[in-house]
Amino acid sequence: MPTIFVLNGPNLNMLGKREPGIYGGQTLADIETMCVEEGHKLGLTVDFRQTNHEGVLVDWFHEAGSSAAGIAVNAGAYTHTSIALHDATRAIGIPVVELHLSNVHAREEFRHKSMLAPAAKGVICGFGAHSYILALNALSTLLHTSK
Ligand code: DQA
Repeated sequence: MPTIFVLNGPNLNMLGKREPGIYGGQTLADIETMCVEEGHKLGLTVDFRQTNHEGVLVDWFHEAGSSAAGIAVNAGAYTHTSIALHDATRAIGIPVVELHLSNVHAREEFRHKSMLAPAAKGVICGFGAHSYILALNALSTLLHTSK
């Protein structure tokens, strides 16, 4: 089964407690369970990870580039700042889908800009935890159509 890395950036370990009106009441562990179950349905192995450190995300992008079929990433605030994640996306030969729980375009202006998006295959935002499920389905479709 192809492996998809589902990567989570800063503060996403606080889900459940963190601004539930914006991010919902589910914890990251709840979302991991949903992703693993969706992966089973799609015939994908989900490797689900979280870090608060930008360089660790870069290392995981490189690792995915040599061992995984795609990445679904919620890079949190690094989405809006990280040229390193833009470059890492361009450096690896697998599709990267950017995702967000909230609709970043309906929020503060500083969230409207994504450093990752121009290098990503596509972007999904605004569907709460279901954004993760949509990202996995997008990657599954991409893998099937690129065969
Ligand atoms: C987020 C949106 C980002 O702007 C924010 O910094 C996050 C979470 C989301 O999932 O909606 O940490 O990526």
